[in-house]
Amino acid sequence: MKPTIGVCYYPEHWPKDMWASDAERMVEAGIKWVRIGEFAWSRLEPSEGQFTWEWLDRAVKVLADAGLKIIMGTPTATPPRWVVDKYPDMICLDVIGHPRKFGSRRHYCFSNQGYRVQCAIIVDVMAKRYGGHPSVLSWQTDNEYGCHDTTLSYGTSAREEFRNWLSQKYQSPDALNRAWGNIFWSMDYSDFSQIDPPNLTVTEPNPSHVMDFRRFSSDQVVSFNKLQVDIIRKYSSAPLVHNYMGRITDFDHYDVGNDLEIASWDSYPLGHLEMKTTVDDAFKAKYYQQGEPDFQAFHHDLYRAVGNGRLWIMEQQPGPVNWAYYNPAPLDGMVRLWSLEAVAHGAESVNYFRWRQAPFAQEQMHAGLLRPDNQDDQGMIEARQFKDDLNALGDIEQIKAPVALVFDYASQWAWEIQPQGKSFDYFEIVFQTYKSLRALGVDVDIIPPHAADLSNYKVVFAPALFTLDDGFKASLNAFGGVVFAGPRFNSKTEDFHIPNELAPNIAHMDIKVSRIETVGPYIARDLTDGGTVINWIEKLETSEICLEKTTDQQPVLVRKDNWFYCGAWLDQVARERIFKTVLDEVKIDHEVLPEGIRIRTTKDQVFVFNYSNKDVDYQGQTIPAAGTIWFT
Ligand code: GAL
Repeated sequence: MKPTIGVCYYPEHWPKDMWASDAERMVEAGIKWVRIGEFAWSRLEPSEGQFTWEWLDRAVKVLADAGLKIIMGTPTATPPRWVVDKYPDMICLDVIGHPRKFGSRRHYCFSNQGYRVQCAIIVDVMAKRYGGHPSVLSWQTDNEYGCHDTTLSYGTSAREEFRNWLSQKYQSPDALNRAWGNIFWSMDYSDFSQIDPPNLTVTEPNPSHVMDFRRFSSDQVVSFNKLQVDIIRKYSSAPLVHNYMGRITDFDHYDVGNDLEIASWDSYPLGHLEMKTTVDDAFKAKYYQQGEPDFQAFHHDLYRAVGNGRLWIMEQQPGPVNWAYYNPAPLDGMVRLWSLEAVAHGAESVNYFRWRQAPFAQEQMHAGLLRPDNQDDQGMIEARQFKDDLNALGDIEQIKAPVALVFDYASQWAWEIQPQGKSFDYFEIVFQTYKSLRALGVDVDIIPPHAADLSNYKVVFAPALFTLDDGFKASLNAFGGVVFAGPRFNSKTEDFHIPNELAPNIAHMDIKVSRIETVGPYIARDLTDGGTVINWIEKLETSEICLEKTTDQQPVLVRKDNWFYCGAWLDQVARERIFKTVLDEVKIDHEVLPEGIRIRTTKDQVFVFNYSNKDVDYQGQTIPAAGTIWFT
């Protein structure tokens, strides 16, 4: 597969007489895809039922005539004012009951039936008009589900739909009371109409109640997306895509992804370093112009799984953004590096956000490929280099990684609901596992918690899985490679109870977690062979072989045959030491990479990325700061 380049373009932001020269410049820069339309509702339907397609028809024609391929975005992330006036209850209430008003975007509740009707109309007329157009070759549904904390909504629409969802799931209030354990604190219900979303309670709500609300809220995103998919499908067979985000986990992306052909995500490495990572200031000082060295790759690997193998970057940061605490400029070379890293991890297209910096409104301080005065910005210079790189590279084919790492959205919700210790965070424990493997030069496939096919993997890592579904349990039991499970593995029932047999309930292994403790940052629980326990430690009752223990003799890592169970969250020193022995055992090549260096192996290339701000010697070559090289 030869990857392509694309760009996000807003013809409605610019005079019509600029469109043709913009299109010409895009083609000249090697751009093949243009995403348009996703925020244009107020100019497509300025009042109810009055459609103004002329300008979009013309924009589509200009782009198509230039030979560009169009990704048409449905505009449902930005309902115009008249829609809100028509359905005042489509506005979300936040967790403390405040309305999230008109005046920016995403001001809608996924559960509002009126809004769904209105969305169906605009998507239908749009798909009917452009679905058969020979240059409209992909469709994006909505824009960034969940952005700005919009998955969870606590208003009347969500409340009504939550009650319906619960009554379908449980059939009777008694069954719900049993499942939730409502006998505790006299929380029993006698009718589904008594149940509210779990906010504004005096102290913490019942975790089973919250877990069901999280599942329900995720299902609402899935069905909202499906509504659009079913409509677009009537008129077009082009691949459908949604643009997901970095470290947004409020809905089950695998479920949304199963209704679409491609998963894409919006990669803003510098904004994400500032806003979405837990790194300290010393780390930021080293990487503020390059981004966290594993954050991008992690999401490429995650969304490749969400897209069932098909990945795009829908929005690639081209320069400083406007929305982080601080907004530095990328080091020269980084836009090219991020783009090459994306294709090395399987992206079929890297699309830059945005074509030209807008001189007005909320994002006027956000860079584009072009400056507001229409001159090339640094992003454009590097996009051109990337074009030349792609020509030099030719086909890039993915191969299966030797290691699989499970990522599960339900586990994220569960441990947000019940962290038990302030710093217990599911994303973080999975990401740290990933980082340690990547720092050893190992490629990783991220897999869903229901992956059936584990063949060809040599190791599967599964930290902190809330529950283990029967199908996945069977796949793991049949798996011939090493399973590295825990901590906090399979430690609840679906209803959010402690299972009778206690965790981790692994077939063939004599092991029980009899107690857990969380560990504050001021406590050292060192391991006898180096490294320490952070955040979480389990007391293991076991007769299996003990491989690691704390200096006070508490077993931490035990093993039977090909199963390892780790009853603690390990720090980087312990992880690196232990992972090396596992990788040695299953004969996966590894090396401790120089700081800031990451590698990625495809069928025909080995890419080397230098995320550091210094030149680094690696494999007899000097890789410049922010530089990328590859071997074939
Ligand atoms: C994304 C969004 C874009 C734009 C961009 C700015 O989250 O999809 O519309 O706002 O961020 O970085």
